[in-house]
Amino acid sequence: ARITLRQLLDHAAENGYGVPAFNISNMEQGLAIMAAAQATNSPVIIQASRGARAYAGDRVLARLIDGLTETYPEIPVCMHLDHGNNLATCATAIQNGFTSVMMDGSLKADGKTPADYVYNRDITRAVVDMAHACGVSVEGELGVLGSLETGMGDQEDGHGATEKLSHDQLLTDPAEAEKFVQETGVDALAIAMGTSHGAYKFTRKPDGAILAMHVIEEIHRRLPNTHLVMHGSSSVPEDLQQIINNYGGDIKPTWGVPVEEIQRGIKSGVRKVNIDTDNRLAATAAIRKSFADEPAEFDPRKYLKAAMGMMTEVCKARFEAFGTAGNA
Ligand code: G3H
Ligand code: 13P
Ligand code: NA
Ligand code: ZN
Repeated sequence: ARITLRQLLDHAAENGYGVPAFNISNMEQGLAIMAAAQATNSPVIIQASRGARAYAGDRVLARLIDGLTETYPEIPVCMHLDHGNNLATCATAIQNGFTSVMMDGSLKADGKTPADYVYNRDITRAVVDMAHACGVSVEGELGVLGSLETGMGDQEDGHGATEKLSHDQLLTDPAEAEKFVQETGVDALAIAMGTSHGAYKFTRKPDGAILAMHVIEEIHRRLPNTHLVMHGSSSVPEDLQQIINNYGGDIKPTWGVPVEEIQRGIKSGVRKVNIDTDNRLAATAAIRKSFADEPAEFDPRKYLKAAMGMMTEVCKARFEAFGTAGNA
């Protein structure tokens, strides 16, 4: 059944677990995620970015979600818009059956330029008014995602701030977070604390200097009833990097967010954990291996099935680690 983000995260907060929000842009990702949710008896958040909507098309994406939820009627599914950039992208997501939208007003509508507080507050408030009138939840974001090591915003995927940012911009201010939640009425708040999107988050295993988990703990102290969201939360598993590189790939040495840091966040109010890159790596690893192992094979179902299998394993591991398992 389809449920809202508010319904799902309220249950997660009451029961002390976190929920992975897996990105989707095609059928194989959807089937893999749902197979893992079913196998672990987990509720799930499936999210689509603007890029995903452009890739699959809104009609195909909407019917795909219908197909997935109808195939697994016992699994609670929140269908969420990832990084909405204006009122219109949020409105059209709602028209297509999304039960939750993110208005990312930390950046201007171009998705690159850091925005000021008043811009972010006003556009987020407008989305909250519209979405709540439709029974849809809203995630806002305060603070710009990017690396505390380099001071750069996300660049690899072609979105996010490209100028050098200060620590003040890269770390959500706890006092401002309190004000923002009160003034916007968001159901969940994404915060910035050193993670970034994509595979290249950290050049070493992160410690408190480059992954500021203490910011989450301070925000949770001030806002104990607000559901917190961690973006850029792929763990970038070394074994997947190795498979890709062993089969002709070229992933440079890199670190993601360790699962134990996410578990620490879940103890401090993190309820939604955004993961896209890990499934991209899993699919790529499986397909590269499949091509090498069976060079005469050319039926896409063969290697896409391998990709689904490896994505399902990643998703199952996250459901287990975040305590989502058993809560469907
Ligand atoms: O926001 C980051 C997600 O990984 C989505 O990425 O914009 O390439 O679809 P995308
Ligand atoms: P990753 O790139 O770490 O998977 O983050 C995804 C994300 O935050 C989507 O909004
Ligand atoms: Na999101
Ligand atoms: Zn994100």
